[in-house]
Amino acid sequence: MSIHDDVEVVLLDTETVASRVRALGAELTADFGERDPVLVSVLKGSLVFLADLIRAMEMPVSIDLMEVSSYGAGTESSGQVRILKDLSGPIEGRHVVVVEDIIDTGLTLNYLLKYLADKGPASISIVCLLDKPARRLAEIPIGYTGFSIPDRFVVGYGLDYDERYRNLPYVGVLKPSVYGGAPPEG
Ligand code: PRP
Repeated sequence: MSIHDDVEVVLLDTETVASRVRALGAELTADFGERDPVLVSVLKGSLVFLADLIRAMEMPVSIDLMEVSSYGAGTESSGQVRILKDLSGPIEGRHVVVVEDIIDTGLTLNYLLKYLADKGPASISIVCLLDKPARRLAEIPIGYTGFSIPDRFVVGYGLDYDERYRNLPYVGVLKPSVYGGAPPEG
């Protein structure tokens, strides 16, 4: 039994993701090369993307990690965000690049952008691997997007279902039998 057996469709295969991440790294290198940015990643889903993205950036960068969770039950963001792990260093005067795996309703990032802005960075930019515009509730100024995807529940390349499947090297959709019914929202 392999985790691959639970995948119904591969939406973005390994090489497609890798080549897009390399291109994003090159874009960020061109745009931030002399500016010593700090990449702020939001755990846990962004971990795989961050790891590949920084290796595609041929310039000095720092990283910092946050972990947040939405208040309330269910799989949908509520917009009320609790910070489980805060930044470990100051960002005042720094060029911040927020690294996200997926932007769905946008409510998590909407909160986080205000939180980070209050700390007085020189600028805040957003790079996200997957943009799911169909479900957006808060407008988010995404500077760099890997892929715009349809409104399907996706796993892999960092994204989970019930904490599993983050280690799939591609982005895919699970078989309905895995959920035992309708796929989760989000
Ligand atoms: C995902 C993702 C974003 C958020 C996006 O995290 O990493 O932080 O959801 O959703 P939104 O745009 O609707 O607010 P998730 O809560 O699944 O946690 P995880 O990264 O630890 O898996």
